[in-house]
Amino acid sequence: MAILKIAKMGNPVLSKVAKKVNDPQNPEIVRLIQDMVDTMIDANGLGLAAPQVHVSKQIVVFYIPSHNENDENEELLTILINPLIEPINNDIFYDWEGCLSVPDLRGWVPRYKSILYKGIDHLGNKIETKAEGLHARVVQHECDHLYGYLYPQRMKNLDKLVFNSEMKYHLSPEG
Ligand code: NI
Repeated sequence: MAILKIAKMGNPVLSKVAKKVNDPQNPEIVRLIQDMVDTMIDANGLGLAAPQVHVSKQIVVFYIPSHNENDENEELLTILINPLIEPINNDIFYDWEGCLSVPDLRGWVPRYKSILYKGIDHLGNKIETKAEGLHARVVQHECDHLYGYLYPQRMKNLDKLVFNSEMKYHLSPEG
């Protein structure tokens, strides 16, 4: 187990398009995925993409948000490799996002409300999942890391890029 160093906004690795993974069972990839999960848990993140640990490969790990706040079921952990996302329709919704590569900040970010995502897991099994709401948001945020995007680049209004310590001024229903 290893806790990896997290790249911060401005690091060129976060702006690159990540490479596809040919063999998810390659020992180096197996180890990378384990280290990514350990790093995400250590940093209290909801998700992590390989470029955030300085590896430009198409791997993301994330927790599928549970509807029950007390449910810390580890089976909700998803490992998604070589992902593709298709929006199911054009409905957009906004919510606050944070990112381990953009510490201490939050932004009010538009995302597709409903998506279909495809890819493979760490064993090479096909993944094809419909997601809505926070689940869809997490997947879009993490997969954006594989295309060189951080959430501030998806924002429409940078007035709503704020420090966590100032969030008290931004908690109205519309954000
Ligand atoms: Ni992020």
